[in-house]
Amino acid sequence: MWLCLAVLVGLYYLLRWYREKQVVSHLQDKFVFITGCDSGFGNLLARQLHLRGFRVLATCLTEQGAEQLRNQTSDRLETVILDITKTESIAAATEWVKERVGDRGLWGLVNKAGISMPTTPNEWLTKQNFMKILDVNLLGVIEVALSLLPLVRKARGHVVNVSSVGPGVSLWWELLHVQVQC
Ligand SMILES: NC(=O)c1ccc[n+]([C@@H]2O[C@H](COP(=O)([O-])OP(=O)(O)OC[C@H]3O[C@@H](n4cnc5c(N)ncnc54)[C@H](OP(=O)(O)O)[C@@H]3O)[C@@H](O)[C@H]2O)c1
Ligand SMILES: *[C@@H]1O[C@H](CO)[C@@H](O)[C@H](O)[C@H]1NC(C)=O
Ligand SMILES: *[C@@H]1O[C@H](CO)[C@@H](O)[C@H](O)[C@H]1NC(C)=O
Repeated sequence: MWLCLAVLVGLYYLLRWYREKQVVSHLQDKFVFITGCDSGFGNLLARQLHLRGFRVLATCLTEQGAEQLRNQTSDRLETVILDITKTESIAAATEWVKERVGDRGLWGLVNKAGISMPTTPNEWLTKQNFMKILDVNLLGVIEVALSLLPLVRKARGHVVNVSSVGPGVSLWWELLHVQVQC
């Protein structure tokens, strides 16, 4: 009984050690596409992955953000302008990615572009505020993911969605409010 337990615990740690020692290799052949690289976490991630040796395809909302990022890195990081609320913009960026990755596909897709909820009392918010948030943080992410999925599959790649509980919490709060009033 105790021996069984000891063997199980041993196996568990062996498995954990094996998983932790696995590292990603051939970074110079791996393309990672990151949205929202003008500022914040996306900008930081783009520069970090570039430093580690990945091929970074960074999207920015503004040309100024893109130029600044290119200035700070090498030609292993390329930029494209992308507004994730615009279907044509997503289609153009997808073509741009295809040209670069070719048969290798996209190893990583990081959906990072997003906006935050205005920090005002709920009473001051309008339906338009919520629509804008959902348009960027939800529908934008879905359309980018759908558009790039074939390339991600080709590389048996990974998708990372960076999101916020902010809008969710606010929406729940609204619903709760309505219920209380009923
Ligand atoms: N920072 C935090 O502490 C925190 C905590 C919880 C959740 N979050 C959530 O995480 C997300 C990002 O956080 P962050 O601090 O890194 O934010 P950030 O600095 O505002 O970065 C968001 C990025 O997305 C870009 N963007 C906005 N709208 C876009 C659109 N329609 N198409 C393409 N790109 C667009 C922004 O470009 P511009 O700069 O040109 O506008 C910016 O580069 C947000 O959804 C936020 O709510 C953040
Ligand atoms: C990028 O570098 C060029 C040349 O050094 C400089 O003229 C330009 O102002 C820089 N752009 C930004 C946004 O920092
Ligand atoms: C990221 O979001 C897309 C679009 O909603 C979805 O298809 C995908 O499953 C999500 N990926 C993860 C890891 O949550």
